[in-house]
This record gives sequence, C-alpha cells and structure tokens, in this order.
Amino acid sequence: MSDKIFIDACFGRPTPYTPVWMMRQAGRYLPEYMEVRAQAGNFLNLCHNPELAAEVTLQPVDIVGVDAAILFSDILVIPNEMGMKLDFVKGEGPVFERPIKSREDLDALIGGEEAASKLTYVYDTIRIVRERLADDKALIGFAGAPWTLATYMIEGQGTKTYTLCKKMMYTDPELLHAILRKVTDVVKLYMEKQIEAGVDAVQIFDSWAAAIEPGKYNEFSWKYMVEIAEYLKEKYPHIPVILFPKGVAAFIQQDGIYGNFDVFGVDWGTPMSLAKEKLGERYVLQGNMEPTRLYSKEATKEAVASLAELMKDGRHIFNLGHGILPDVPVENAKYFVSLAQELSRRG
Ligand code: CP3
Repeated sequence: MSDKIFIDACFGRPTPYTPVWMMRQAGRYLPEYMEVRAQAGNFLNLCHNPELAAEVTLQPVDIVGVDAAILFSDILVIPNEMGMKLDFVKGEGPVFERPIKSREDLDALIGGEEAASKLTYVYDTIRIVRERLADDKALIGFAGAPWTLATYMIEGQGTKTYTLCKKMMYTDPELLHAILRKVTDVVKLYMEKQIEAGVDAVQIFDSWAAAIEPGKYNEFSWKYMVEIAEYLKEKYPHIPVILFPKGVAAFIQQDGIYGNFDVFGVDWGTPMSLAKEKLGERYVLQGNMEPTRLYSKEATKEAVASLAELMKDGRHIFNLGHGILPDVPVENAKYFVSLAQELSRRG
C-alpha cells in the first residue's frame, strides 16, 4: 500500500474510490494559469522557470481537486534541448525553425546524457513541486513518445496530414528509425532523471499514434514506447508507468498491445468496454471521457456514471480521453472531478 491513492490504483490495489486527474489540467482554462503565464512573459519562459512552473503544476490540485498533479512542461523541450530552435507562435502552436530533412541534420543534434542533462529546469520544478504537494497526492512526470516527438521534428510544426514523416516512413525508414532511436535514448534518461528528482509515476504521450496504419504501429512507435517502459520498470519497479497511445482502437482489436508497464491510457475514440475486454486483466485502464463533454454537466454526468458502472470493480483511473480544452468552465472541471470521486466510492 502507498500513502497515495493514485499510486495504489496504478498497481490495481483496492482504493476507497477511483482517483481522477485530467490530461492538460495545468493550463489555459484556469484564470490563475493565465496570470502566471503573463508573469512569465510567454509559454516557454514559463516552462524554463521552475518556481512558476511549480506554481501552475499545483494549481489544479488546489482549485479542481484532482488526485494527482502532472508536471507542467511540454513534450517539445526534448527536441529543443537536442538543439532544435523552438518557438510557440500565437494561434499556430509550436514551430521548429529547422526541421530534420537528412541524416546530417540528425547527426548535428545533441543526444543521450548530454541532452538529458540540459533539462535541469524540469528536474528543479519537480523538486519544488514534490516538496509542496501533499503526501497523499501523486506527481506525474511525462515525456512524448518518440514517434509523436519525431512528427514535430520532421514536419517542423503540427500537421493534419503527416506527409513528411510518413513519406520518410515509406521511402527512408532507416532515417526515421535513426531519429526514433536517438530520441528514445534521450527519453529514457529524461524519465529516469525525472524519477530521481521525485516524480511518483510517469506517462508517455503518443498523441499522434493514429497517424500510423495499424500494421506499422508497432514498428514505428509502440516498440519504442515499450522499450522505454521496460527500461524504467527494470530500474524502478515501484514507479508506475502509464502509456497513452491516442487513437489505436484497431491496434487493440488486433491484440497489438504488449509489454511491461502498469496503466494503459484509453483515448475517447476507443470504447472503454473494448479496452476492458482486451486489456483490463493485464493493465489498469485510465480514461476516457470525451473532453468536449465538459462543456455540459449533463453530458459529463452521463459519461462519469456509465464509466463508474462499467469499472466498478476497480482497475481504473478516471481521466479524459485527451486534453481538456482551453475554454471549458472551471466549474465544470470541478464537477467532473468530484462526481468521479463520489460515484466510484466503495464500501
Ligand atoms: O497539464 C498538463 O497536462 C501538463 C502540461 C502539458 C503541456 N503540454 C502544457 C502546454 C503537457 C503534458 C503537454 C503535452 C503535450 N504538448 C502534448 C501531448 C499531450 C496532448 O495533448 O496530446 C503535445 C502534442 C504537446 C505539443 C504542444 N504544446 C502543442 C501542439 C501545443 C499548442 C497547442 C495548444 O494546445 O495550444 C503546446 C502548447 C502547450 N503545452 C500549452 C500548454 C498549457 C498551451 C500554451 C499556452 O499556454 O499558450
């Protein structure tokens, strides 16, 4: 048993209720976040400032009542510290000045320990948060999956078509694998350093998993995520590892999910009943309310009640099936959290 209900739930141990947190819970729907971001000047400055990043990490625990905090940072700090100049352009999102086009571009990037040790501001944020966070709340560290990071590193920005990275997948798979290898090696060390700094669990976000056809998903993404998970489980068996590949219902249906990790994050497009049937005995399941439901209390209640019923035997962590949207009323987020805790209460 742990003093943290979230950690017990990750290991499938009985808990008084099902813990809840929300992906992207530290962010723009909170006026308090907007204030601190303004104080920092911009989003990247906020990521780079451990004192302010710690403050926004803690906000959703205090304001919304979630059972776990997720480190405030971004998945793109890794490519940034590997040497790719990054900007967050208003209204457009992240932009890398010089995306990877060739083997030479890749070779010019910093890798391994050297890249992972440049992220000191992240480790400092973790130390501050862990000191201030209540003992019964967990702190979740995170990283992007190598594939999701590679999409930004190759496209230079967000994309709807994934043309450049998928073209590389079919015309120059060796180069794509070389990129994924270099990123995987940094992510492993980065996760390890987050754990050493004090996170209680880690989650790997494969936000753009659905861009890959199911028959290629293992080769270009899942096996790298499993490699990271297994590296961490070997060294830190007491730290839960959560894998969140978004949009992989077909891959689940084909029994593609394998590996040594603890919690499987279910996206909103995958029925929880399917995930339960295929994965529920092997992994604790996290998710998966459609985030847009948060605009309506009625729609929220309907989903929370049906998830609570389906998962009443436990082996579940409440969450959204992807990140919370920036203009959701704070009151509705609080409603989701307290209702999940209430309707799942046992005994
Ligand atoms: O609360 C938390 O979840 C912790 C913080 C967090 C952020 N980004 C803060 C952020 C986490 C875990 C992420 C992960 C992340 N970043 C992902 C994977 C998760 C997912 O949602 O799929 C991805 C794909 C990114 C890359 C990224 N960062 C994009 C595409 C954008 C712009 C789009 C957008 O949502 O605005 C960001 C910016 C970003 N990361 C913001 C926040 C709070 C908004 C920046 C701002 O404050 O203006």
